[in-house]
Amino acid sequence: AAKYRAFPAIQLSDRQWPNNVISKPPIWMSTDLRDGNQALIEPMSIEKKLRFFDLLIKVGLKEIEVGFPSASQTDFDFVRRLVEEKRIPDDVTIIVLTQSRDELIRRTVESAVGAKRAIIHLYNSVAPVFRKVVFGMSREEITNIATTGTRLVKELIKQHPQTDWGFEYTPESFSTTELDFSKHICDAVTAIWEPTPQNKMIINLPSTVECSTPNIYADQIEWMSRKLARRDSLIISVHPHNDRGTAVASAELAVMAGADRVEGCLFGNGERTGNVDLVTLALNLYTQGVHPGLDFSDIDEVRKCVEECNQLPVHPRHPYVGDLVFTAFSGSHQDAIKKGFAQQKDGALWEIPYLPIDPADLGRSYDAVIRVNSQSGKGGMAYLLEQDYGLVLPRRLQIEFSRAVQAVADQTGLEITADGIYEIFSREYFEQ
Ligand code: KIV
Ligand code: ZN
Repeated sequence: AAKYRAFPAIQLSDRQWPNNVISKPPIWMSTDLRDGNQALIEPMSIEKKLRFFDLLIKVGLKEIEVGFPSASQTDFDFVRRLVEEKRIPDDVTIIVLTQSRDELIRRTVESAVGAKRAIIHLYNSVAPVFRKVVFGMSREEITNIATTGTRLVKELIKQHPQTDWGFEYTPESFSTTELDFSKHICDAVTAIWEPTPQNKMIINLPSTVECSTPNIYADQIEWMSRKLARRDSLIISVHPHNDRGTAVASAELAVMAGADRVEGCLFGNGERTGNVDLVTLALNLYTQGVHPGLDFSDIDEVRKCVEECNQLPVHPRHPYVGDLVFTAFSGSHQDAIKKGFAQQKDGALWEIPYLPIDPADLGRSYDAVIRVNSQSGKGGMAYLLEQDYGLVLPRRLQIEFSRAVQAVADQTGLEITADGIYEIFSREYFEQ
């Protein structure tokens, strides 16, 4: 594998975030089987969930949200199968989501009993619009929902000491909530759970709907990270959605601002425009020389499995994995890449123009595609004539002929094949 380097950070005396590079990976949490699954046109069957779960294990995920067992019988049965068939490796923690309601919490705890390690993930919505429009409740009433739920989880898990239980609390719609209220409700939950530095709990701060620029979200995370009570006993998690198309940037800035953990989905599946894409985040780190601890050395296999389980295609230009991302169409790009490969030494710092990563590190390969259209230079059409018709054009003729080819391409707006190029050549030079 090649080596990569980060661009140096610019030190500004008035910068806000504690860090302006990421020097170690966050804790990754996959919510493919929960947030991702709930956004599918056709939710996954148990068989598909099992296949996806095995893939996540293979990639190296250690925290996997496996479902919403109180909301779906399939999810409940899936969790039971994972537990009863002992499919969860010892170093992997499953997470089960629940609303903060008595009967739903009981069912959720029941689903995970017997797992070696499980986290109960409790949430309730806290933003002003939910308090006013959806629930008609005051701040204190909303706080009571969270604290009552937390107390119940604490009491229920005591009855099942064979499982190593963890706890995660999400003030849903955090990023559109007043910060002082978010702090108030998280502190109230923390006071009941009583985490310690040895036994931390997770406070997950989502952009349930992404409504601001990434720097604003990062500022909110930094504020919480500085002000929350018992910070040394908390893992601060972020859960960015992608409504503005900036979830990856939001997650990266949030980690620089103090977040310890990121929740997302492979290739950015998830509600509406998706959850943050864990693959892009991980490989962005990788290309900066920080190993993400996740294995994408056969990225096509990962993509195939995810596409089949989700029944959603990955875009051909998706970072790192799309069909077209290691293909160069332009002659000048091809030339630069060719020179790069000729000089690249094994194991040396990766220095190939236009390729931010060695495709081989992902089990992919670079592909030069010679196509001629209105954007192409003389090189492409000369190459095709030589390759397909054995015609070698002298340099000056190439320049002259490329004008004729470009005129046709401009007129039609279409790509011109080798046969089309030969036809133009015959018209220009043979038929006079
Ligand atoms: O987006 C969100 O806020 C969620 C929570 C339920 C964690 O998915
Ligand atoms: Zn979500």
